[in-house]
Amino acid sequence: MSWIINTLTSTIGRKVIMALTGLFLILFLAVHLVGNLQLLYHDGGEAFNLYTQFMAHNPLIQIVSKGNFFFIFLHIFVSLTLYVRNKKARPIGYKVSAGNSNSTWSSRSMALLGTFILIFIGLHLYGFWFNLKFGEVAMVTIDGVSMHNAYALVAESYTIPGVVAFYIFSMIVLAFHLWHGFASAFQSLGLNHPKYNGIISGMGKLYAVIIPALFALIPIYMYLNNAG
Ligand code: HEM
Repeated sequence: MSWIINTLTSTIGRKVIMALTGLFLILFLAVHLVGNLQLLYHDGGEAFNLYTQFMAHNPLIQIVSKGNFFFIFLHIFVSLTLYVRNKKARPIGYKVSAGNSNSTWSSRSMALLGTFILIFIGLHLYGFWFNLKFGEVAMVTIDGVSMHNAYALVAESYTIPGVVAFYIFSMIVLAFHLWHGFASAFQSLGLNHPKYNGIISGMGKLYAVIIPALFALIPIYMYLNNAG
């Protein structure tokens, strides 16, 4: 039991938790993206509706989903404790900021970027997840099975230019967060070696650009196809 308390109270332990939960969420993003890309089929939403119906009723997915929410909570909670600890250790801050001479803007702004992503996730969950679970969403019958028309819910919200703009901006913010977060997670886990650091950081940067860009493509494409 004491190792759990030690892990949760030491700075290194907290950084390891940040890294592990961060890597899980990075994996979640890729899986979520693959599912969402089905929104781009020209099939009236059939593939996406079947996918969301499967996700909502598969018991294993439901367990993963609960774990997902727990990891999001843990990632945010531990980052807050680290932030507060840093502020307490250096309440006045550096008199002369090193600027971008030895760190990138995204590495210095992880808390700000993370806070915006939290706002995005809150609004996103309310718009889709909450409405699908507790709201009144139109039904559709596919292969004799009645299910929520999740496609119509998403398509309708992406006819609003403000919503599309918000998604695009949020994906830019997500890209900056991942730009630093990916390589940083490997470093916190001690999985860095001069020989492989370039490859890890390159992979992280590629991931940080491609995944948010594909996420942003979905509302843009749907807006251009469905609006008006
Ligand atoms: C175009 C982009 C996106 C679309 C169309 C989309 C769509 C959806 C939909 C329809 C759901 C509800 C699924 C269900 O309840 O069965 C959902 C859930 C969720 N989305 Fe997204 N999403 C997008 C991007 C993102 C991004 C970038 C993040 C994170 C930064 C995110 C985080 C989540 C989370 C945490 C859930 C809850 C998943 C769970 O139940 O475990 N989404 N999304």
